Amino acid sequence: MKKASLPSLPNPINSNPALDAQHVIYLAGTGGGKTSAVKLMGLVPKGAQAVFFDPYRNYAEQKFQGQMCHSTSSRAMFLKALAQMRRKGAPFKLAYVPRSGATSEELEFFASVVWALGNGNAPALHTIIEELASCAETSGKLKGRAGELLRGGRQFGLVVHSVFQKGQEVPKTVTDQSSTWWVGAMNSTNDAKWVADRRSLLVDEVASLVSAKMNKQRIGKPIAEYILISDGIGNAERGALHCVTGVKKAATSQF
Ligand SMILES: Nc1ncnc2c1ncn2[C@@H]1O[C@H](COP(=O)(O)OP(=O)(O)OP(=O)(O)O)[C@@H](O)[C@H]1O
Ligand SMILES: [Mg+2]
Repeated sequence: MKKASLPSLPNPINSNPALDAQHVIYLAGTGGGKTSAVKLMGLVPKGAQAVFFDPYRNYAEQKFQGQMCHSTSSRAMFLKALAQMRRKGAPFKLAYVPRSGATSEELEFFASVVWALGNGNAPALHTIIEELASCAETSGKLKGRAGELLRGGRQFGLVVHSVFQKGQEVPKTVTDQSSTWWVGAMNSTNDAKWVADRRSLLVDEVASLVSAKMNKQRIGKPIAEYILISDGIGNAERGALHCVTGVKKAATSQF
């Protein structure tokens, strides 16, 4: 890791232990609707301050919950723009599109900037990380600032939304610290079992979910079936999300 190229940044301010951890994991195979869920489920609320690690340009220069998501690949610009927007205090959406792609060094830069702008008395800063698995070295402890966002971000108003294709790729730090899971259709029974084991669900419940990609072929509508799991035993709700309109229903048959 090229540490020398990272700017020296301040620490987050106004630690507020009363803030609850609200980190979210989005987990599904490709075409399962993860990116659509980030955009449309409302776990990143409309009117939120939101910042994106966006290697595949899933958010850059598109509207997110009605607000344009501006983007930059310049580190200096990203730091300046995010600091300014946080100071202003109004809702914003800003994407960092890493020039070197989804690498651990790029993620470290992004996470360091977000960490420095944590403030327990300011509006929450929703932080969306696509492709965390490509940037993280192990499935164990998540190292560096990204790990710190998950472990310590809560009290500085940082809410991390991380996106994964496979259970085995999710670092333990992320599973341990994220109480809300949006789970779509997995690619394999093994992956379904991984989720079921960790969140006390039946393997069949997870394995029976149909992806948006599959529903597009079957019924001509990109409807992502999902289970939304939150804190507490038995707190799992099954639903279906239209990946274009954002309409949510209890089951695909209701569309
Ligand atoms: N704007 C759109 N117009 C038409 N179909 C769409 C649109 N957005 C999503 N879809 C459909 O919904 C499916 C799910 O898309 P989404 O990008 O949310 O999946 P994903 O889980 O993020 O996939 P990946 O792992 O490839 O990033 C796609 O396969 C596509 O069929
Ligand atoms: Mg995606």
